[in-house]
Amino acid sequence: MHGRLPPAKGVKVGPSGSTRVVPREDPVPWDGVYFFGFLEFAADWGERSVMRSFVSSVLRELRPSGIRRFFDLISQTEGVISLGVGEPDYVTPPSIRQACISALEAGRTKYTSNCGISDLRREIASYLASRFGLSYDEKEIIVTVGVSEAVDLALRAIIDPGDEILIGEPCYVSYAPCTALAGGKPVFVPTRVEDQFRLRKKEIISRITEKTKAILLSYPNNPTGAIMEKEDLEEIAQVARNYDLLVISDEIYAELTYEGEHVSIASLPGMKERTVLLNGFSKSFAMTGWRVGYAAGPSEIIEAMLKIHQYTMLCAPSISQWAALYALREASQFIEEMVAEYDRRRKLIVNGLREIGLPCFEPKGAFYVFPSIKHTGMSSEEFCESLLMEQKVAVVPGSAFGPSGEGYVRCCYAASYSEIEEALERIDRFLRHHQLPRVAMV
Ligand SMILES: Cc1ncc(COP(=O)(O)O)c(C=O)c1O
Repeated sequence: MHGRLPPAKGVKVGPSGSTRVVPREDPVPWDGVYFFGFLEFAADWGERSVMRSFVSSVLRELRPSGIRRFFDLISQTEGVISLGVGEPDYVTPPSIRQACISALEAGRTKYTSNCGISDLRREIASYLASRFGLSYDEKEIIVTVGVSEAVDLALRAIIDPGDEILIGEPCYVSYAPCTALAGGKPVFVPTRVEDQFRLRKKEIISRITEKTKAILLSYPNNPTGAIMEKEDLEEIAQVARNYDLLVISDEIYAELTYEGEHVSIASLPGMKERTVLLNGFSKSFAMTGWRVGYAAGPSEIIEAMLKIHQYTMLCAPSISQWAALYALREASQFIEEMVAEYDRRRKLIVNGLREIGLPCFEPKGAFYVFPSIKHTGMSSEEFCESLLMEQKVAVVPGSAFGPSGEGYVRCCYAASYSEIEEALERIDRFLRHHQLPRVAMV
């Protein structure tokens, strides 16, 4: 391009023919002249140098999810039994699908209000009140594109550059990357099998600095299946109040609690005003592909989240919101049946893993078990890769969920009963074939 156009106003041509944009003497309106000048400059510069990476340095530092690599491997292998993907094996119940079809037929295909359909937000408020004793106003709720977006919005709404977020780990894979993308610093707080993977007060306190802004916790937990009892949450709440911290509580698996009742940290004294509660429809109503979630919290933070959401997402999908509204109003029976079935599978897989010699902490929520493979001498990646290649069973390396996950693998039991039985036989064959040591459970 250089040479075909005369040098634009404001562009100096050097002796070697290189161009340089010089400051304008008189401010002139943006009329394209400077734009062409820039193109010449850019084209000329491009001829002489290697193209730079346009990807931001934060992104270049960010490692892709350890789970994704595994899913790619799974999709390339025939005949795999997958205990890998953290997704219900159920299809969304017919009545919820029908609610969506009805919304389509009624022409509800337009943008909704940025913060979500008002009826849906009111229904979420009454669901949170009746299920978890929480009292939210419609204005304290925003409907998001899955809990994934809610995590991102909550972090971006609160983080100033360098703010530290304490994250209990092993944990869901997006927390640390989303913190980094928001300009914050993720600080992992380990949880251990000896503590039944509960987040402990002393571990939190020892990591608090003047930069600490929030604690991100997620119970029932992905990948361990651990839950926190009310007394455990009370300890965390006390730390949050004493150190003036916010809590972001991802409770997407709240409905999948097998023993006792789920307690939300937001329901504890003095916590509603310092908690952003996240929940959604993906797991409890088998609606992963619909992309609906929500956040409830102090209106100042919800409004800040809404600012980002309105510019980046505009609104959650309209027809999914109508389906979600129906789900909350009419489909609680489905949850009961699904949870009873998951519980049956949970018992099968926990007992099965223990019998074949993989020590297994008893998960009380979500749909994951997290057996230890430490005694095999293999890393969790090696274990998973060999198991996949040799016996075609997909489980996920614990290391994908944080440093404390090393030495464990995550098995998702949202697969059919017969698939779980078959997977257990294959894992047993794998251990025997490699003559891997087994641990007798007491
Ligand atoms: C703990 C946790 N939070 C959030 C999500 C994302 O959920 P959604 O499908 O609502 O974006 C998942 C998905 O596996 C999860 O396990």
